[in-house]
Amino acid sequence: MTHPALSSGSTAVITGSASGIGLATAVQFAKMGLNVVIADIGADRLAQAVKTVAATSAKGADNVMAHETDVSKMDDLIALEAAVQQRFGGTDILMNNAAVQPGSDMLNKSQTWQRILDVNLHGVINGCHVFAPNMLKRKGPCLIINTGSKQGITTPPGDPAYNVAKSGVISFTEALQHEFRNTDGANISAHLLIPGFVYTPLSCPGRTELPDDAWLPEQITEFMIASLEKGDFYILCPDNDVKRPLDELRMRWAADDIIKNRPPLSRWHPDYADAYADFIKDI
Ligand SMILES: NC(=O)c1ccc[n+]([C@@H]2O[C@H](COP(=O)([O-])OP(=O)(O)OC[C@H]3O[C@@H](n4cnc5c(N)ncnc54)[C@H](O)[C@@H]3O)[C@@H](O)[C@H]2O)c1
Repeated sequence: MTHPALSSGSTAVITGSASGIGLATAVQFAKMGLNVVIADIGADRLAQAVKTVAATSAKGADNVMAHETDVSKMDDLIALEAAVQQRFGGTDILMNNAAVQPGSDMLNKSQTWQRILDVNLHGVINGCHVFAPNMLKRKGPCLIINTGSKQGITTPPGDPAYNVAKSGVISFTEALQHEFRNTDGANISAHLLIPGFVYTPLSCPGRTELPDDAWLPEQITEFMIASLEKGDFYILCPDNDVKRPLDELRMRWAADDIIKNRPPLSRWHPDYADAYADFIKDI
């Protein structure tokens, strides 16, 4: 059993699917008989991804389409949506998954912040704005899955632009699901995918061996499909290091910074090191 939207003949558009989690999901969806649209940047990477997906697809290359799309550009997403309408008659599943993580400094005045927010946050918002109106008109069931990050919840120091973008993805997706469930006749739901540490070019650039604590992208896809079947909105993935009980404590500690009027990010504040160690000692 899977979520009813994930049935043979449904059409899934996945951004950032020339690599990593997006590619693993494209492969799995195509195996399940879905039409799959690979939306990413770089013609060569797209052509390679089509080969990879078509090789395991239940219907060969017939149900696989690639479309060069920069998610930070509204016009690209509008063209993508129209191309999918033309080829497959519309979109049943949209996975806004594309992102970059080049690193960022808090007071950096370069273009990095702009680019990270354009791709990682506006890319998701643009995707929903372009696709959701026509998805709402379909009989459904339809799904929008936005890929967030634990860094958008507990916002660890070190990469503030990425954290800000992912925090925005979380608020946006929560509000989107609220909107859908309050729209008469809507047969669509939004979901937030929250991967842990996953072995991909984004998190492990240049690395050729699977780190012990990382999941493979295929494990994320499998966990996501099982969570969608259960109807979960928050798809909080573990990895080989951090399991759900530790994630829960980390999130509770972060929320308690406000409730207990502690300094922000007290988890990384030396004055709170002992208290935090005590807080998670049973894990
Ligand atoms: N890998 C991890 O540990 C991890 C952890 C938490 C969240 N995530 C999230 O998972 C998602 C997938 O990342 P991944 O780890 O599979 O990385 P990845 O680098 O393998 O895949 C990201 C894809 O996005 C594409 N992309 C980048 N900019 C784009 C743009 N402007 N338009 C269209 N496509 C663009 C890239 O070309 C790439 O193919 C991202 O949203 C990432 O933030 C990853």
